[in-house]
Amino acid sequence: MNTGQNTAIVGLQWGDEGKGKIVDLLTAKHDVIVRYNGGANAGHTVVVGDEKYALHLIPSGILYEEKLCIIGNGVVVDPVQLIKEIDTLRNRGIEVGDNLRVSNRAHVVMPYHKEHDAALERKLSQIAGKGDQSIGTTKRGIGPAYADKVHRATAIRMGDLLDHETLLDKLSITCAIRCAELSALGVDAPPLDANALADEYAAYGKRLAPHIIDTVYELHDCVNDGKAILFEGANACLLDIDHGTFPYVTSSNCSALGIHAGTGLPGKYMNKVIGIMKAYSTRVGGGPFPSEELGEKGEQIRDRGNEYGTTTGRPRRCGWLDLVAVKYSTMICGTTSIACMLLDVLSGFEELKICVAYELEDGTRSARFIPDAKQLATAKPIFETLPGWSEEIVDITSPEDLPVNAKAYLDFISKYLDLPISIVSVGPKRSQTVI
Ligand code: GDP
Ligand code: IMO
Ligand code: MG
Repeated sequence: MNTGQNTAIVGLQWGDEGKGKIVDLLTAKHDVIVRYNGGANAGHTVVVGDEKYALHLIPSGILYEEKLCIIGNGVVVDPVQLIKEIDTLRNRGIEVGDNLRVSNRAHVVMPYHKEHDAALERKLSQIAGKGDQSIGTTKRGIGPAYADKVHRATAIRMGDLLDHETLLDKLSITCAIRCAELSALGVDAPPLDANALADEYAAYGKRLAPHIIDTVYELHDCVNDGKAILFEGANACLLDIDHGTFPYVTSSNCSALGIHAGTGLPGKYMNKVIGIMKAYSTRVGGGPFPSEELGEKGEQIRDRGNEYGTTTGRPRRCGWLDLVAVKYSTMICGTTSIACMLLDVLSGFEELKICVAYELEDGTRSARFIPDAKQLATAKPIFETLPGWSEEIVDITSPEDLPVNAKAYLDFISKYLDLPISIVSVGPKRSQTVI
């Protein structure tokens, strides 16, 4: 039977909290690492010694040879990206074979999804008299691929890549519809060729066939064998399609609520939910960000934290820690403890601001988050100011050695969230962690 040691890792802000580092760290204590949502819009960084790995689709547990990595049914998989990632890892001496399984029910990101993503963003940025209405997506085709999942008749799943006839059959329908949509969006490209696409993607299917299985039964077998599962969330709670800052969100349930649908494992198997948060806030793309710091302090955070996207290289918008937002995410995710990341970035600030409530349009004060972009944009942050610390903390490994003001900053967070902080991260390496 299951040992009850299953853990979820979930981002509590707008992504890039350092989930990859924590998944890598906790992989040692688990047997199976499973991705349940998103696709190659995610960019999870793992640093081992002097080696840096950026993972987009493959779970961050892949660096441990003896662990099983699963891409669950809730993920949208771009086979081109997946093959590239497998090859890159293999070229760097990382074993990727029977230790990687991909759900036959995961939906496929096709080239026309990426074209559609880019074309729609372009169109949204040029609506006459409306200003820029684009979402600021990663242009990885995520939204259009999930849209096809919901449309059903036009969807392609990983299992379809294994059967040329089925694939061609489906693509003949999809290409006809997609061609019309792309041309309506102003894409001036030759018509989609179902035959050529079927040949190309069946070849990817052949290459990936050893990995493609029914991961739902596989995961239940693992649980019944007493194996410990680590769920790796991609994106983050405030980007959740239902619970984030809609419409400036991604297209999946990237809070902990997506775990069950995205893996086929029900809630009774969840023991711990570790919420991952930065010691400040960042956001990539459009959307409201009440505690954003547009001045010099924001630049300082970006420089010290090297806040540039792992997937797109875009500079991340930076700001102060918003505990109203984080507390909301801990509620949605059922968080049982916190990992506070990138605390080292805050060394050298004389004062640190923390958003503890919002002033609403009618002048009232509220400590409730507002998961709606238009309304949230009208909220003004109410800050508490805490004293900073000047010492660099990148070599600290024990909680007692943290500067007094850093400890006070963490205590403030823990008290506000009413949760223990079980991990503090002071640098990208495995060793730069205070447990
Ligand atoms: P993820 O998407 O949540 O996995 O996060 P990303 O990998 O996109 O972004 C986090 C970045 O911060 C990566 O470059 C990590 O190597 C780096 N990082 C993680 N933890 C720390 C930390 O405690 N301090 C510093 N300075 N960098 C960190
Ligand atoms: P990780 O897992 C940061 C953001 C995009 C954009 C919005 C929608 O690395 O934390 P999409 O391409 O998903 O349709 O874009 O969501 N976004 C992320 N931002 N980190 C991520 O993942 C993200 N995944 C999506 O920037 O604003
Ligand atoms: Mg990232």
